[in-house]
Amino acid sequence: MTAAEIKELNPQGIIFSGGPNSVYEEDAFTIDPDIFKLGIPILGVCYGMQLMAHMLPGGKVVAAEHAAEYGETEITIEDPNTLLFADTPKQQVVLMSHGDSIESIPDGFTVSATSAHTPFAAMEDRQRNFYGVQFHPEVQHSEYGMQILKNFVDRAAQVKHDWSMDDFIDEQIDEIRQQVGDKKVLLGLSGGVDSSVVGVLLQKAIGDQLTCIFVDHGLLRKNEAQEVMDSLGGKFGLHIIKVDAQKRFLDKLAGVTDPEQKRKIIGNEFIQVFNEEATKLNGIDYLAQGTLYTDVIESGTDTAQTIKSHHNVGGLPEDMQFQLIEPLNTLFKDEVRELGEKLGIPHHLVWRQPFPGPGLGIRVLGDITEEKLEIVRESDAILRDEIAKHNLEDNVWQYFTVLTGVRSVGVMGDLRTYDYTIAVRAITSVDGMTADFAKLPWDVLEEISRRIVNEVDHINRVVYDITAKPPATVEWE
Ligand code: XMP
Repeated sequence: MTAAEIKELNPQGIIFSGGPNSVYEEDAFTIDPDIFKLGIPILGVCYGMQLMAHMLPGGKVVAAEHAAEYGETEITIEDPNTLLFADTPKQQVVLMSHGDSIESIPDGFTVSATSAHTPFAAMEDRQRNFYGVQFHPEVQHSEYGMQILKNFVDRAAQVKHDWSMDDFIDEQIDEIRQQVGDKKVLLGLSGGVDSSVVGVLLQKAIGDQLTCIFVDHGLLRKNEAQEVMDSLGGKFGLHIIKVDAQKRFLDKLAGVTDPEQKRKIIGNEFIQVFNEEATKLNGIDYLAQGTLYTDVIESGTDTAQTIKSHHNVGGLPEDMQFQLIEPLNTLFKDEVRELGEKLGIPHHLVWRQPFPGPGLGIRVLGDITEEKLEIVRESDAILRDEIAKHNLEDNVWQYFTVLTGVRSVGVMGDLRTYDYTIAVRAITSVDGMTADFAKLPWDVLEEISRRIVNEVDHINRVVYDITAKPPATVEWE
């Protein structure tokens, strides 16, 4: 966008977001330098701050070959009059994740925070209302990140806070009614929080113009299919058609080991099943999906890198016959849960742990067989049972088991075994974008390990995944 086009939009503030690039790369994202002359408050985050330092006179960025600073870092607020860090403590932890570094800040700026590794953790020019932070205030690991963003929005840009979930519901219902008219909508129900919330929202908006399809792709958890039918079909009265497609999916996936290929196959097959069911139904125009903003970002936008192609985004064929309705695609998970509660969905359903579209297909590493799926299903059921027994459901955001491809030697009842290793993954998170491994009590882990090895065939070893996201992801594939 040119500065003139931006001016036309009349924004109250601009945020230059972060990104994995270097300002020195050939195709580095850049901006029209006249943006700095518009008199609009600007906050640069990470790459955004480097872009400011690179473009404004007096600033300089040096390229790095290796990550300069990475992970949770303590910063010190140096400027007592800081606007950005108002109402936050002098010492605070933030998430740094940058390669290039700023060597000097542009004329007119003062340093508002430093860290052990950089004298320029944050800068501000209150005269021009320009601000920059080298860290990521938008992630949970930055303790006061939300306050910092709020300071920019409230005090620099002076924007009113008037977004509310109640308004969101009303607006979405209006929008869905307008978009759909008297046409029919098909919803892919997975039983997870997201599609359940979409289902209830759509039912409120268009009533019996909604038909749900629940595809049992054979990659579901133990007893899951029945539970979905009982709760959403029974209690909430959604009209659900259940399709038994286990064999189709397993046939297509046979021998496939590449994670991205597996995701694409599952996504494509899913849409094909939909197409077939929709054709049988006649007159369906719209496909509703529980796509979240997180899925949109992580599947790659013009400026965000593809980390994994998420099921409900990456798998769509280009000749798809439906138009899409994705009412949650501007929300994060915590907001979807809030929405669910507002819509009257019971607390335990709304706070259920997330389950990925490709299901257990990405929790059996490498090629998928029914036997391996059974191992994951059984070990996952044990894990869930133990977490529930110890009342840890509210402390852990997501927990599951992964069948690693690793086999190792063990001894059971005096006999040598050579069998598979199960990994237990349990994390704490708010939106799935970043996560920590859950510090589960040793005795709970011990019980989980003991039960899995004893009760699940072909497992002789259990390991606990103690990596955060980043640098790992939540799922292993
Ligand atoms: P990752 O592994 O990307 O996971 O760190 C972040 C969150 O997203 C879930 N996930 C998915 N959800 N379709 C989904 O609907 C997918 O393809 C998919 N892949 C990962 C994952 O379980 C975690 O909650």
